[in-house]
This record gives sequence, C-alpha cells and structure tokens, in this order.
Amino acid sequence: NTVYVLNGPNLNLLGMREPDIYGSETLDDIAGMLEDRGRELGLDIDLRQSNHEGHLVDWLHEAQAEGAKAVLLNAGAYTHTSIALLDAIRAIRTPVIEVHLSDPSTREEFRHLSYVGMAAIETVQGFGAQSYSVALDAAAKL
Ligand code: DQA
Repeated sequence: NTVYVLNGPNLNLLGMREPDIYGSETLDDIAGMLEDRGRELGLDIDLRQSNHEGHLVDWLHEAQAEGAKAVLLNAGAYTHTSIALLDAIRAIRTPVIEVHLSDPSTREEFRHLSYVGMAAIETVQGFGAQSYSVALDAAAKL
C-alpha cells in the first residue's frame, strides 16, 4: 500500500529556498513527517524529487505499473507549464492529488493556471509542509 510523493524542480532546496514563502522545513523533514503519518495510516511512502520534467512523467507511469494507491504531486513550476504532466495524469488510473506549500492562486498571475490541477482529483495548497500531510490523509481515504 504505497503512496508516491513526487516533487519537481527546486524542491530539493526546500528549507533554504525563499523560506518566507516555502517555510524552513526541508524535503527530508517532510519525508520524515509523511513516514510517521503513513505508519499510522498503514501506508508506505515513496518520496522522490527531480528537476527534470521527464522523470516526473516516468514516475507517474511507474506509480500505475507498480499499483501505487495514490500519487501526491508537487510539480513546482512545471505545474504551470507542463501539458506532458497533464497528459500523464490523464493516462494513468492511479489517483493524483496536487500539492503546493504556498497558495499559487494568491501569487503572481502566471501561477494561477495549473495543468496538474486540470487532471488531479483534488488540490491541497497553502498550508506549508502540512499541505503534504493533509493530502496524505485524503489519499488514505481513497
Ligand atoms: C510550488 C508553487 C509553484 O508555483 C512554484 O513554482 C514552486 C513551488 C509550491 O509548493 O508552493 O516551485 O509548487
């Protein structure tokens, strides 16, 4: 019973990257938090990060091939540009929940469009690192 937690560009720098916007927790901190919560929910966490769009596409395909229960996807800036990610989410039956630390809808205009959100079953954004755990709780109920 595995949930894939896929993270896109620049999220490897979480903690030091614009902490006023994204908070001081690192991706490792988030992984630890999700593993703890996952244990309570009976879910294994497979958390990955890449700065390369195609890796995210490959991992979405893999989530389906491996029978993952769900994918939490923070695609970073690819959220707002990637028709390839939109198509990949539509190509698989594995449910995908869109996640963002910040609330892109209150930021620059160019962050208001989300290709990921067009195909995701749900979006959790604006709660900082907690966005991931809210999304994991939602995934557990699927
Ligand atoms: C983000 C929001 C995106 O607009 C931005 O490009 C990111 C992070 C977030 O988690 O708030 O890289 O996905």
